[in-house]
Amino acid sequence: MINRLGIIVGSIREQSYSKALAKALSGFVPEAIEVSMIRIDDLPLFNPDIDQNAALRPDSYERFRSEVKLQDALVIISPEYNRTIPAALKNAIEVGSRPMTDIAFNGKPTLVVTQSAGSMGGFGANHHLRQALVFLNAIAMPQPEVYLAEIHKIIDKNGNILKTDTTTFLQIVMTNFLAFASHIAD
Ligand code: FNR
Repeated sequence: MINRLGIIVGSIREQSYSKALAKALSGFVPEAIEVSMIRIDDLPLFNPDIDQNAALRPDSYERFRSEVKLQDALVIISPEYNRTIPAALKNAIEVGSRPMTDIAFNGKPTLVVTQSAGSMGGFGANHHLRQALVFLNAIAMPQPEVYLAEIHKIIDKNGNILKTDTTTFLQIVMTNFLAFASHIAD
């Protein structure tokens, strides 16, 4: 059973479409499930030297790790940057991947959503993210895959979906994901 769903947005841009998608997708989650946004914009660039020194370790590392660990399932929504994921998201993955004996993402059912202004919907970013999640023993939902192309035509900055077929698709995605995540959690 899923009680808590954490959303990580891979773009730290104020007017981010990924952030707008997070809002839209949250609207398809039943009220009984607590949805939290897990921020990544306050994580200093990961450096094992500072992480291994308790006096130097940023509080935000512990904050991020414990927020991820608290969730029963995760949704990661990201743009594509240079055919991969943005550095801010990769940095958050690095932070959550340590210590290796207590990986924050371990066993988490995860929905991967990518978007781009172009025609490929962030396919490269989607699969690079999946590759890292496999290594961290997170369980990315295989299907339906979510690549949202020409994002500016299908959602506005406030999270209003502009196309009926996108609304239907995202509702199906969330229904499938919650069933997938519950199955893993039970
Ligand atoms: C991009 N963008 C982009 N798009 C794409 O389809 N493939 C790519 O490789 C890239 N590379 C890229 C690099 C950098 C540095 C930037 C700033 C942008 C475009 C980007 O994916 C698109 O504008 C997203 O919709 C932005 O998402 P947010 O920030 O609105 O969530």
